[in-house]
Amino acid sequence: MAGYFEPYEALDDKTREISRAISSLKEELEAVDYYNQRVATSTDAQLKAIMAHNRDEEIEHACMTIEWLRRNMDKWDDELRDYLFTEAEILSLEDGGDADSSGTSAGGSDLGLGKLS
Ligand SMILES: [Fe+2]
Ligand SMILES: [Fe+2]
Repeated sequence: MAGYFEPYEALDDKTREISRAISSLKEELEAVDYYNQRVATSTDAQLKAIMAHNRDEEIEHACMTIEWLRRNMDKWDDELRDYLFTEAEILSLEDGGDADSSGTSAGGSDLGLGKLS
């Protein structure tokens, strides 16, 4: 089955649904980028406005999918609560750390790369 990295038969239904959501999110984000580039380069004002409208709808679709992931896959809720809707220095928010104008987290200056694995 295309799009899977592990044997399809070995994946439970939840993992398959999560994979569908992540694939969809990737597609929505690609569409945001496509439209955004076209908006930036189009010289026709009406076409530019239509593509800006379409780009913004793709952002809406991406956000809907992120919300589905938040409700259905572990970890998303915790991370989104830590990082979204704050004006604090982003790196300072790792592991619930508090904002610090130096841009480093209370846990050190590893740039949060340990979180990427
Ligand atoms: Fe629309
Ligand atoms: Fe979309």
